[in-house]
Amino acid sequence: MTLYFDNAATSFPKAPGVAEAVYEYLKEVGASPGRGAYQSAHAAGRIISDARKLIAQLIGAQEPDQIVLTPNATVAINLALKGLLKAGDHVITSSMEHNSVIRPLRRLETEGVELTIIPCDGQGMLDPDEVVKAIKKNTALVAITHVSNVTGTIMPVPEVASRCAAEGVRLFVDAAQSAGILPVHVADWKVSMLAASGHKGLLGPQGTGFLYVDHGIKIRPLVEGGTGTFSELEIQPGELPQGLESGTPNMPGVYGLKEGVSFVLDTGVEAIEHRERELGRLIRQGLVEMPGVSVYGPVNELHRTGVVPFNLKDVNPAEVGYVLDSVYGVAVRTGLQCAPLAHRTIGTFPAGTVRISPGWFHTQADVVVLLNAIGDIAALRSRI
Ligand SMILES: Cc1ncc(COP(=O)(O)O)c(C=O)c1O
Repeated sequence: MTLYFDNAATSFPKAPGVAEAVYEYLKEVGASPGRGAYQSAHAAGRIISDARKLIAQLIGAQEPDQIVLTPNATVAINLALKGLLKAGDHVITSSMEHNSVIRPLRRLETEGVELTIIPCDGQGMLDPDEVVKAIKKNTALVAITHVSNVTGTIMPVPEVASRCAAEGVRLFVDAAQSAGILPVHVADWKVSMLAASGHKGLLGPQGTGFLYVDHGIKIRPLVEGGTGTFSELEIQPGELPQGLESGTPNMPGVYGLKEGVSFVLDTGVEAIEHRERELGRLIRQGLVEMPGVSVYGPVNELHRTGVVPFNLKDVNPAEVGYVLDSVYGVAVRTGLQCAPLAHRTIGTFPAGTVRISPGWFHTQADVVVLLNAIGDIAALRSRI
């Protein structure tokens, strides 16, 4: 059995009941919501509305209708950025962003959107003052990650949000690495849009994610087509969330996601946060004590999640990942983790790092196995 330590890519195992829900949907429910007047279509409608309600509760949104369901965080991010920004607008982002934010912004730049990237420090931290200094007359959006997928750095989102609100600038947050792992309060923080995966901290299946859109924010759909509503119209309805959700939804995935979010709510985000941070702390402490190991990310444990990036001196991280997998049965992520700019920021470009990302279901015994395996590799390398 593989010891899986790549929860920042996608969580595994999923919450209890998620796999069963996906199977049950395909076996017992089957229908699509809004596409029929029969009972199973109504049941599908209830499932989707329950999923929205639970997500809204989890992130502190006022209404379930502010939750647009998407296939992953990437689609949600594209929807937010390309749906809001137009030529002549200015957008501010950070140097710790995932390519799911950077690539759409680089595309928009070729279409006349002005882009400012604020450099973060060597531990991946963003200074809210630098964000405010970069605001101009045409700044339409600040777009930042809540947690870096490379270092686990927790960005000062509440501070940036209040500064943006004071300046009258909208804030978009990429919560792919924080939803279900850290408290998120979109309404209290006055966040305009927030995207997340359903398959990471929400412990749901792949093929799920969402975008929160605050009231009054008008964004263009990425895709137009059947919404199951206003079928008499030949033009795309503007109403949220369906106006941004054209096409048959991933209902087995949404049913599984509903189970995942229920589990997170029942367990408590604070309990999950506490366990993952504690596991990360133990891993980090074990690595720091090994000769020839460099650990990256915030030194202050209040500024980081359980994600632990490291390198062995003079060893390519891909090699470490390969040996961990093939000899010890431990799965970790290596390389640039789709965030080259973040690696430039912390000085680990182009080889990247070995990234360990623990999850709710890990035990301290798993950490011991992981550290013993890395310790063996480090000792062996130091003798060569
Ligand atoms: C910070 C961050 N943003 C966006 C994404 C993209 O998420 P998804 O795979 O759900 O599209 C990831 C995935 O690793 C991520 O870590």
